[in-house]
Amino acid sequence: MNQDQQLKELAYKRIEQFQGKAKQDPYFPSYHIAPPTGLINDPNGWIEWKGTYHLFYQWMPFETGHGAKYWGHVSSSNLIDWKEEPIALAPSSWYDKDGCYSGSAIAIENKLQLYYTGNVKINGQRQSYQCLAVSTDGRKFDKKGVVLDVPEGYTAHYRDPKVWKEAEHYYMVLGAQTIEEEGCVVLYSSKDLEEWQFHGQLAGGFGYMWECPDFFRLGEKDVLLFSPQGIEADGIHYQNTFQSGYMIGNWQQGTTDFTHGPFFELDHGFDFYAPQTTLDKKGRRILIAWMGMADENEPFHPTIENDWIHQLTLPRELVMHQDRIYQKPVKELQALRKHQLVDTQVKINWTGDVPAVSEFIITPENRENLHIDLFGYATIDFDPTTKQVKLTRPKLSSHQREERVAVVADHLLEIRCYLDRSSLEIFVNHGELVFTARIFPQKQNRSLSITGEGNLKVWSLQ
Ligand code: FRU
Repeated sequence: MNQDQQLKELAYKRIEQFQGKAKQDPYFPSYHIAPPTGLINDPNGWIEWKGTYHLFYQWMPFETGHGAKYWGHVSSSNLIDWKEEPIALAPSSWYDKDGCYSGSAIAIENKLQLYYTGNVKINGQRQSYQCLAVSTDGRKFDKKGVVLDVPEGYTAHYRDPKVWKEAEHYYMVLGAQTIEEEGCVVLYSSKDLEEWQFHGQLAGGFGYMWECPDFFRLGEKDVLLFSPQGIEADGIHYQNTFQSGYMIGNWQQGTTDFTHGPFFELDHGFDFYAPQTTLDKKGRRILIAWMGMADENEPFHPTIENDWIHQLTLPRELVMHQDRIYQKPVKELQALRKHQLVDTQVKINWTGDVPAVSEFIITPENRENLHIDLFGYATIDFDPTTKQVKLTRPKLSSHQREERVAVVADHLLEIRCYLDRSSLEIFVNHGELVFTARIFPQKQNRSLSITGEGNLKVWSLQ
């Protein structure tokens, strides 16, 4: 057995040993992607190929911490049922021995090509290589080695290639750090995917590192999505350890000329990072992100006693709306609705139990305050005078309440929540604001209580 097979075998053994434990955890999700065991972080290689959606992910099989990452792989025909596929990449080569880090997929003729970052540490010093792996069947990937080294002027924090094709050219954006320790995104192009031409910086200038860039057209605009590190909290903004967001602008194709507006956060919850998008065959730009954050909370996650940690978000369709990006849960998710449990007018106060795996929608009928208490754990408030939506939950490390706040442009039209045992995704006003959060309520508390007026609908999703 070669080194690659050996490392994959070890990971399969680990799955065999611990998958049962993870799946029996009452906090293990029912319809979100989570690791079979170990730690999941960024979504990678997100693509629809030959009628099937393929999603890869950063995966540490052996512990609930970070380290030499593998690429796990799942596939789906409908964006709700996900099938486990063979492990795509293991950190088995000299150029990726300390991790097959994040990257993307592109379909070329009859092949699926993965571009990813090989992470190498020698005597504590980091080296980064952009690498290629190719598959003809979408299940078994052959590594083809290093495609790009780090150019002069940049540190080894140079990673997460996103590759796409446009007008006879291939392009690649990478997250990078200059030797002055400023975060940025750099651009390459290629005519044949063999020779890559370095163009320089597409954008940069704040934070010390930009991770996981994605660059695409949405409506009439070009959008740069990325996850900057090193931005200071500022009022209600940038409250997480690291951020994820976008800048909207116009790109002169084939150049680094990208005139853009300010940086906006994509999500206002606690657990959202490293999003990646793909354009599916229906022409939808669909985003999936890591529902997690590399931070001090990780040691306190209650799931680590069952040897797993983190999950991914739901797939969300991106829509441009007056120079902001709205995120809408993809419409396929409606097929998850098994039984409608509630359809009622809420008058000032409503309390009832909702399942741990459910969806509810509140449509307010006046412009008054709204207060929602979920499982005695999380609260959601809307204040019409400030137009603020506020989400609170207990901090995992100290149990003190922590909060996230965002502001709607106008009125509150709808609050739609997806619950999946230990996760809550809140879509306000059809995707204008989204809050993504892990929640770990007491298992016996299923009560939803609403103070306000409007209509409430609840569905069980299993
Ligand atoms: C983002 C990230 C990427 C890197 C990967 C490693 O969460 O730090 O920049 O490729 O995770 O797992």
